[in-house]
Amino acid sequence: MQLSQQQIAEFERSGYLFFPNAFSSDEVGVLKQAANEVYRLEREEVWREKSGVARTAFAAHTYNDAFRRLGAHPRLIEPVMQLLGGPVYMHQYKVNAKAAFDGDVWQWHQDYGTWARDDLMPEPRAMNIAVFLDDVTAANGPLIFLPGSHKHGVVDAGHDLETTSYPLWTLDRETVTRLYQEGGCVAPTGDAGSVLMFSSLLVHASPPNISPMDRTIVYLSLCHVENHIRQFKRPEWVAHRDFTPIEPLPDDTLAELVA
Ligand code: SIN
Ligand code: MN
Repeated sequence: MQLSQQQIAEFERSGYLFFPNAFSSDEVGVLKQAANEVYRLEREEVWREKSGVARTAFAAHTYNDAFRRLGAHPRLIEPVMQLLGGPVYMHQYKVNAKAAFDGDVWQWHQDYGTWARDDLMPEPRAMNIAVFLDDVTAANGPLIFLPGSHKHGVVDAGHDLETTSYPLWTLDRETVTRLYQEGGCVAPTGDAGSVLMFSSLLVHASPPNISPMDRTIVYLSLCHVENHIRQFKRPEWVAHRDFTPIEPLPDDTLAELVA
């Protein structure tokens, strides 16, 4: 999949692109089953909310075949290679549950803020691509974005080690309000199988999910191979140290697993 000039211009303006229904319901079914399997595992990569339900499964592409295939899917990897201008490696891989009733908040942050400060990634030459495994609605804790906030570089942040089970460099209210006044605030929602690509500098968050509906989203964080991290402070399954360029697999790689 290649992006048009119009899509590239839209990405540069807002910091994100939305692709409704990029994966079929059969492909999503394979991935949803895989998510349920990995959430049952007692592994250090599977982090839990205070209630015990899964919050996120890190590096699931290294221990689950469906997620391995998704991690090299051409519908995800090719447009990111196009935008970053060359080969990419997987910096981080998360299957975020945001479970019904218990899914907790992700505070306002920029992903590159954490990658720069904790992992010494040289440039924001990296981005996220999210695959919805459930319908994402206004009700079940969608991602929320401040469009255009990626144009501000790395903004000031404080290290939040307390609010949730996941340490994050988070923005204060004044900064979020100022960026909101410039570009507004949106919640891109859509069906399971939709894909959301966003800049590693885009300011984002998500509210708790108190609805009875799960909101599972897989995040691939891809980085240009020359821009690999320089500091190995975090566990290797949080901030990967394998900088091998990803070779996109055939387009039917997930369809092959449909029973
Ligand atoms: C993230 O920002 O990395 C995750 C947010 C979410 O899954 O809601
Ligand atoms: Mn994030």
